[in-house]
Amino acid sequence: MRIAVLAERGAGESRVALTPETAKKFIALGADVAVEEGAGVSASITDEAYRDAGAEVATASKVVDGADIVLGVQAPDVALLAGAKPGAWVAATFDPFRETARVEAYAKAGLEALSMEFMPRITRAQSMDVLSSQSNLAGYKAVLTAANVYGRAFPMMMTAAGTVQAAKVFVMGVGVAGLQAIATAKRLGAQVSATDVRSATKEQIMSLGAKPVFVEDVAGIEGEGSGGYATEMSEEYQKAQAELVSGHIAKQDIVITTALIPGRDAPRLISDAQIASMKPGSVIFDLAVAQGGNVEGSQPDQAVEKHGVKIIGYSNTAGHLAADASALFARNLYNFLSAFWDEEAKRPVLDEEIGNAVRLTQGGKIVHERLTTQ
Ligand code: NAI
Repeated sequence: MRIAVLAERGAGESRVALTPETAKKFIALGADVAVEEGAGVSASITDEAYRDAGAEVATASKVVDGADIVLGVQAPDVALLAGAKPGAWVAATFDPFRETARVEAYAKAGLEALSMEFMPRITRAQSMDVLSSQSNLAGYKAVLTAANVYGRAFPMMMTAAGTVQAAKVFVMGVGVAGLQAIATAKRLGAQVSATDVRSATKEQIMSLGAKPVFVEDVAGIEGEGSGGYATEMSEEYQKAQAELVSGHIAKQDIVITTALIPGRDAPRLISDAQIASMKPGSVIFDLAVAQGGNVEGSQPDQAVEKHGVKIIGYSNTAGHLAADASALFARNLYNFLSAFWDEEAKRPVLDEEIGNAVRLTQGGKIVHERLTTQ
């Protein structure tokens, strides 16, 4: 049973899917672990540390040669996997709705693609969920980055030279990233408010000491689809939300947007007119920028200035905390594979619920119902 890990090749990808800690744990289960030279460098992990943990460190082709399972943060190009065993598993993020050509290539190559984004939102899979672990770090980093760009302070300060007002921070979308953004902004001393389409988040916002800003009295405002994800909202709701938010946004110094809808482009939450209503010097961090953006005009990895407002957003926010993001990502993968470890087979054997949820390709075909029924 050979587990292989390649250096990430995606532009700007700083994370790695294995840490010395998880290498040791896989080895304790009875697996051989091989990792490409330099794979951990941008996450501050040396080849030496992998070797000390018992992993083999070698070139990409040697690492993959005879692999049963390949781990990645982003799924590697099929060309790199030529030496893997027939039917080898690749557990990584696949961005399956956008990267359809890659999924097809995996099917053609006879590989079994396991998409970590499709991990079901059930209690026993929480520790395997890379979206949660990475969103949590992203929510934190978004606030720190916005605070850094903002030309004023976050906390209220009473000084001999006068009072500095607390920054007003508004968080739009209160999932995992949004909750961490609220908590981080509160810790920095800001006045925080937040909104979401899922009414269940109201209490969570208040429990963090922030103010909920919610559309009331519109039919069907539950906003919760399957698995805790948001649904696309009615036109009536969207109009009411835009009005409410417009009034509120004009008074904010920092806005953090985090809204995502699975399998679709991110919903547009802030229009150019709303940006124009904000004070010069305000900052918007668009955490959804890589999924099409919540904010009109936001660009991945670029600081855009419109109407005196700075609009920023990283294509890979968690990657800006590469060491922690890798540690959590690698643990998610270990928790996933070890939960299904079969002592006799000396390898993981997935059950139906989680297996069918994450498996994109098998036996030369695309098998996932969300991809075959679209
Ligand atoms: P997400 O990343 O899919 O979306 C971020 C947030 O944006 C969500 O709260 C969503 O409701 C909100 N949103 C979508 N459209 C919006 C709009 N038009 N306006 C305002 N907000 C909008 O969500 P995330 O962070 O993955 O979490 C969603 C829920 O799922 C949470 O309650 C979380 O606790 C739960 N969850 C459960 C897991 C498990 O049980 N294994 C794992 C991950 C999350």
